[in-house]
Amino acid sequence: MTIRRPTIGVFDSGFGGLTVLKALLEVIPDADYVYFGDTARLPYGSKSVETVAKYAVEAAHYLESNGAQMLVIACNTATALALDRITAAAHVPVVGVVEPGAEAAAATTKNRKIVVIGTEATVSSHAYRRALEARGLEAREKACPLLVPLVEEGWVEHPVTEQIARIYLGEAFADSFHEADTMVLACTHYPLLKPLLQLVTPDHVCIVDSADSTACAVATHLQQLLPRTETSPERRASPRLKFFATDSTEKFRRLGARFLGRTIDDVQHVDLKE
Ligand code: DGL
Repeated sequence: MTIRRPTIGVFDSGFGGLTVLKALLEVIPDADYVYFGDTARLPYGSKSVETVAKYAVEAAHYLESNGAQMLVIACNTATALALDRITAAAHVPVVGVVEPGAEAAAATTKNRKIVVIGTEATVSSHAYRRALEARGLEAREKACPLLVPLVEEGWVEHPVTEQIARIYLGEAFADSFHEADTMVLACTHYPLLKPLLQLVTPDHVCIVDSADSTACAVATHLQQLLPRTETSPERRASPRLKFFATDSTEKFRRLGARFLGRTIDDVQHVDLKE
């Protein structure tokens, strides 16, 4: 495939995937992006494999029909439950967040013991545990379902959030995992809680953010499709960003800006028929 300036499609159940887009913009600023947030049907984290796969495949097709030449499944739940189904249905390369997250954890840990925190569905799928065990690492997965609504409420430094995080992480780092030295943030919303989580995890724990590792994996993938010797003005222009949301565009703009760390202008409402 010859691509002069790639258009990368980013999919998430809602706003959280904007943390992955933020990382992508830092690592690959010379691309254009189309982002699909399925805000009308979130959260995915409490839904079944069948439902998540169906929604995610619809979104993937929508992004392709809007010019995406590569798809990044920013949603941990959608990746954990449906990456195979999305990849089979797509006509362009697909990158999920689980493998890059596991790879980053493997590169970080010294004692090979990892704690993974995510949604109920991500944890029940054991996708992270499988990916980590395949690398010879021991993993404990812990569902932290209250953290997503707290982040969406903007309570990223709130004492209530801190107390809840202490309870979850106290359980995650109990018993034989008290010496685990790496924790994977396996949910799009958790990067916003990084300072708070750092505060409540034991001092020796290193936090791995699957948003950053995914952005690096996408860059490596792109490198194979498009040689970096290219220096045309087209490649140097700043990224064009286009957003699609299945619920209110006003809410997407407002909440999304917190996740992306910049204002969101071009949002279009999408009505995906059942
Ligand atoms: N995007 C989801 C994830 O990363 C979190 C929000 C949801 O449950 O839809 O797992």
